[in-house]
Amino acid sequence: MNNMNRTWWKESVVYQIYPRSFQDSNGDGVGDIPGIISRLDYLKQLGVDVIWLSPVYESPNDDNGYDISNYQSIMDEFGTLDDWEQLLAGLHSRGMKLIMDLVVNHSSDEHVWFAESRKSKDNPYRDYYIWRDGKDGREPNNWSSFFSGPAWELDERTGQYFLHLFSKKQPDLNWENETVRREVYDMMTWWLDKGIDGFRMDVINLISKVEGLPDAAGEGDYQFGGEYFMNGPRIHEFLQEMNREVLSKYDIMTVGETIGVTPDEAVKYVGEDRGELNMVFQFELMDIDSGPGGKWNIQPWTLPEFKRIMSKWQNELYGRGWNSLYLNNHDQPRMVSRFGNDGPYRKESAKMLATLLHTLQGTPYIYQGEELGMTNVRFDSIDQYRDIETLNMFNEYREAGHSVESIMASIYGKGRDNARTPMQWSAAPHGGFTTGTPWLTVNPNYTRINAEEAMNDPDSVFHYYRRLIELRKRHDVIVYGKYELLLEQDEQIYAYTRTLGDERLLVVLNFRETPVTFELPDSVPSGSAERLIGNYELQEGWNLQALPLRPYEAQVFKLN
Ligand code: NOJ
Repeated sequence: MNNMNRTWWKESVVYQIYPRSFQDSNGDGVGDIPGIISRLDYLKQLGVDVIWLSPVYESPNDDNGYDISNYQSIMDEFGTLDDWEQLLAGLHSRGMKLIMDLVVNHSSDEHVWFAESRKSKDNPYRDYYIWRDGKDGREPNNWSSFFSGPAWELDERTGQYFLHLFSKKQPDLNWENETVRREVYDMMTWWLDKGIDGFRMDVINLISKVEGLPDAAGEGDYQFGGEYFMNGPRIHEFLQEMNREVLSKYDIMTVGETIGVTPDEAVKYVGEDRGELNMVFQFELMDIDSGPGGKWNIQPWTLPEFKRIMSKWQNELYGRGWNSLYLNNHDQPRMVSRFGNDGPYRKESAKMLATLLHTLQGTPYIYQGEELGMTNVRFDSIDQYRDIETLNMFNEYREAGHSVESIMASIYGKGRDNARTPMQWSAAPHGGFTTGTPWLTVNPNYTRINAEEAMNDPDSVFHYYRRLIELRKRHDVIVYGKYELLLEQDEQIYAYTRTLGDERLLVVLNFRETPVTFELPDSVPSGSAERLIGNYELQEGWNLQALPLRPYEAQVFKLN
């Protein structure tokens, strides 16, 4: 197998829509499908090929749609199946594709399967979920939930506990049960037959749990039990079955969200001879600023470490599997606040990071608002936050005696609502997102940072993204070329080449606000160079032997 097997999904750029926050059309303060339809020309203008739609299914919204109560119907707040059909048609008629979010590690507790399951131990749906007796008056094991507290909930009706790796309104489905798998495959087929172009699979590497559900190691009440449910014993069997039964029958793309995978593990999911998935989202870069206390324990990150992680994935998947590339999404802080500069160099650093995203090997994923350089938000009070993960953590940390101030600092840095504040379309009230009251307050910087302003400014972050996407379509080397890191230990410059046959690109990025000079290492054959794109104009007479880089400067050259 080699990375030169050409496919449309390697050459595509994906744009993620978080529907709740994209565009409201009826003034209820919640984004909806007709709202998305009204923005299709904007997406077309940006030039993206594929839309990944975060969940739009019926849901009580304990976790904003990642808790699904009916997989084959649309959430009322978002519209109807008819609206959705129009969205699909609107995308297809513009030459764009649609991938849907597949959330099948768990359902909502309000799904009819769970409503039945909890009724009695001998209900036909009992075994759709993971039920166990308690142990010594406590949970069946010591696993913690991703959203604080234990991963088990006692259900009074039958006196047993059910497993929920996320909130207690998100019971885990029992993939050991063949009927559950059949139901999932039938549901997937139903969507595929409607003409969708693939799936993003939510925490798909958690669906196979180790038999016996052993206790996790460690002191204290509840422990992360990842070793017993990440990349579990039957995961590849399940995905190969899914591929055989469903995926292989369609020309689609799939991307699995896989927490904690290494490159070697990733290859098992995406190797082209494996018959599983096309790509996975890995988390290594997303963990770069987490300390020993986990995600909320924020630590400074360094550029050499950043480069080490990116390069590791570029090199280790080369010729073995396809990378997905992302710097933020609906679960992560805004990239410009985290890895760039959301103050005076917001635009420059957003473009610099965009240059990185679009010139590595892999399929780039843009998260809504990233193309405007949208930033993190700092609400004064916890009451303004909506995310269950954030709110649960706040309560847990308060009970453990942390100060409000220190908790808020973590939320400002890492909270998921940073990414979920509504799209900033214009300087109109609420950024033009809604005529009503938004479900989550719009970032007050919408008066400066918004799509209308960006569309009218030829030098905007938006137009830079558009040009990067165009560039990718013109140069195979961007998609398929081999990556080679330069200046590995440099604390400020990230530079690399991409090579395909005799075509070679050089990418030079300044990750700091201080100027610095780039010197082309001797190892890179230099002839003449042509500048392809950059976030500053180059000075007359520039050369790569000594190229002065301004704050957050990014330049891409074609070497001849
Ligand atoms: C990952 C999703 O991206 C996140 O938003 C969600 O909370 C969890 N999976 C649970 O579905």
